[in-house]
Amino acid sequence: MIIVRTLTDLRSLIGNWRAKGHRIGFVPTMGALHAGHLSLVDNAVRQSDRVVTSIFVNPTQFAAHEDLGSYPRHEAEDVAKLTAHGCHVAYCPDVATMYPEGEETRVSVPELGAKLEGEFRPHFFGGVATVVSKLFNQVQPDKAFFGEKDYQQVQVIKRMVKDLCIPVEIVPVPTERDVDGLALSSRNAYLTPDERRIAPALSAAMHRAAIRLRNGTPVIAATEEAIRTIEKAGFDRVEYIKACNAENLDIITDAMPERPARLLAAAWLGKTRLIDNIPV
Ligand code: PAJ
Repeated sequence: MIIVRTLTDLRSLIGNWRAKGHRIGFVPTMGALHAGHLSLVDNAVRQSDRVVTSIFVNPTQFAAHEDLGSYPRHEAEDVAKLTAHGCHVAYCPDVATMYPEGEETRVSVPELGAKLEGEFRPHFFGGVATVVSKLFNQVQPDKAFFGEKDYQQVQVIKRMVKDLCIPVEIVPVPTERDVDGLALSSRNAYLTPDERRIAPALSAAMHRAAIRLRNGTPVIAATEEAIRTIEKAGFDRVEYIKACNAENLDIITDAMPERPARLLAAAWLGKTRLIDNIPV
């Protein structure tokens, strides 16, 4: 595997692959790679001739008070993991490559991006849509792989690709979890040992709520019980837990959720914000 840092090098490599008719798979990441990221890489390797994984901690998707400065960065370990999984290129651009001097253009998906996560992180999906559209223009992949762990992100990217006519297929990949059900996340590294023991309460309560919803429990009753359980387990605060239409993420308030539906949640455990989602 090779590490590419400049757009010139990336473009000449991609040009060579295209000339040979290779199908290109792309996995955008912010590094600190774990088994969740690597399952995206495995899927990309299976479905493509050449695979590019980008590692770029994108400043525009962090608010000023968020963890941009402390976000885990482990490039050497990431490169070793990507090599072991058969990735061909680690694309590691610097900030000036992604946001050239004088830059001002932004991509936004204002309605879908304002729901759920967007309510609590209003800057977030604009930053994600902007950087992912730049990465798509740079890598020009046939397929791009995104984790369902960030379910709303997948929907926002699908919307953006359709609206901007970007010729890439978005492939969603199921969430990788630890044995106790906690969804793998680079931010799990922030958890203290005590918090790590409490953390699986989030997915456990969501799982129970999904069963209750399927059995006809009113949405409000099922989600409020889940909030109580999660906070009783030791979480500081549940920001939201909502049953939504699985595609447009409209919030469902009826007794019986429409299908396909998805349950999405965000909760604070100490200084760490965890998100999760499951099908209903
Ligand atoms: P990051 O959080 O590094 O995640 C990169 C990709 O890995 C995303 O598609 C995410 O959904 C996926 N992923 C993370 N944890 C996962 C898990 N447990 N199971 C399966 N997939 C998982 O998401 C981002 O970076 C950024 O917003 C990015 C798209 C790179 C734009 O900056």
